[in-house]
Amino acid sequence: MGKSGLQLSVLSFGSWVSFHKQIDDSVADELMGIAYDNGINFFDNAEVYALGESEKMMGRVLKNKNWDRTSYTISSKAFWGWRGKENKPNQLGLSRKHLVEACNEALQRLQVDYLDIYFCHRPDKNTPIEEVVWTMHHLIQQGKILYWGTSEWSGVEIMEAHRVAHQYNLIGPSVEQPQYNLLERDKIENEFLMVFNTVGMGTTIWSPLASGLLSGKYNDGIPEDSRFALQGFDWLKDRWVVDDKLNKVRRLTAFANELGISVASLSIAWTIKNPNVTTAILGATKKEQLTENLNALDALPKLTPEVMQKIEDIMETKPKLPEY
Ligand SMILES: NC(=O)c1ccc[n+]([C@@H]2O[C@H](COP(=O)([O-])OP(=O)(O)OC[C@H]3O[C@@H](n4cnc5c(N)ncnc54)[C@H](OP(=O)(O)O)[C@@H]3O)[C@@H](O)[C@H]2O)c1
Repeated sequence: MGKSGLQLSVLSFGSWVSFHKQIDDSVADELMGIAYDNGINFFDNAEVYALGESEKMMGRVLKNKNWDRTSYTISSKAFWGWRGKENKPNQLGLSRKHLVEACNEALQRLQVDYLDIYFCHRPDKNTPIEEVVWTMHHLIQQGKILYWGTSEWSGVEIMEAHRVAHQYNLIGPSVEQPQYNLLERDKIENEFLMVFNTVGMGTTIWSPLASGLLSGKYNDGIPEDSRFALQGFDWLKDRWVVDDKLNKVRRLTAFANELGISVASLSIAWTIKNPNVTTAILGATKKEQLTENLNALDALPKLTPEVMQKIEDIMETKPKLPEY
């Protein structure tokens, strides 16, 4: 993972939306089992997912599986709190108080002694960066977390964290968790380039399928049992289910068919082909989805320079960098 010594599997598994809202313990157990048996060693979670219930579910599965704790890594993230609209002022954000309390709560819900990675889920404009870096360093020294990271921070904010860490001899962030997929590319392919070259952050990228859009499942409408049909997710559907994006995905689906692979496998393989991606976090509500997504590893050798160019021609989403 970046310049750290931590080894993450190139595909990993996360619980956003699915755990507790869509799937129960038995499906979560089955999916995590398939993931682990296929070599996935990183499971991603956050305090805000299903308002704490996602961590509790993952904790129950891990307890039931009884895998050797040294054989997998697990994360949580703090920022939004887990009480939704009931959050009081100190029950969210990146203050020392919330980061420490949220970490302790995540350990309890996940039933583990330490988190392998602890993310600041968003930057907090109200907390000095010094307070954040000192707190994460202390949590590492206390053995409650092993590495810390950022999620959806700007390149400038990440570099500020490194500057403070350098100034006070503290441990800086080792990893960033940005969105990255064929439709959302700027951070990984433009903004962070200098960050990768200097401080060398790892990346655990999210929504490799743009919430399922890049699986082609929305090409002919919105299936009833899909994420975009869920109550309260109109904001997400409205972001992705738009003609321009759908038309691109339809053309990409046809191209994937020509290659003899699914468009989901192709899209995921495309993300992990980027050397600045440490791991793509998969999401799934069904066994068949996860199995199909794991096929991305077999699709990878099919992404020749010619195929990559054809994908560019279809998607037209490559960020424009200065000519020089
Ligand atoms: N740091 C952050 O701010 C942040 C934000 C978002 C996510 N994340 C992390 O990233 C993980 C992955 O994100 P994501 O769930 O958005 O990933 P994604 O791969 O873009 O979307 C996953 C969803 O798409 C559908 N799907 C997946 N594979 C499919 C297939 N082969 N065929 C048809 N449908 C398929 C399923 O939803 P349905 O079956 O419901 O349609 C599945 O839950 C999350 O679990 C979380 O750990 C982090």
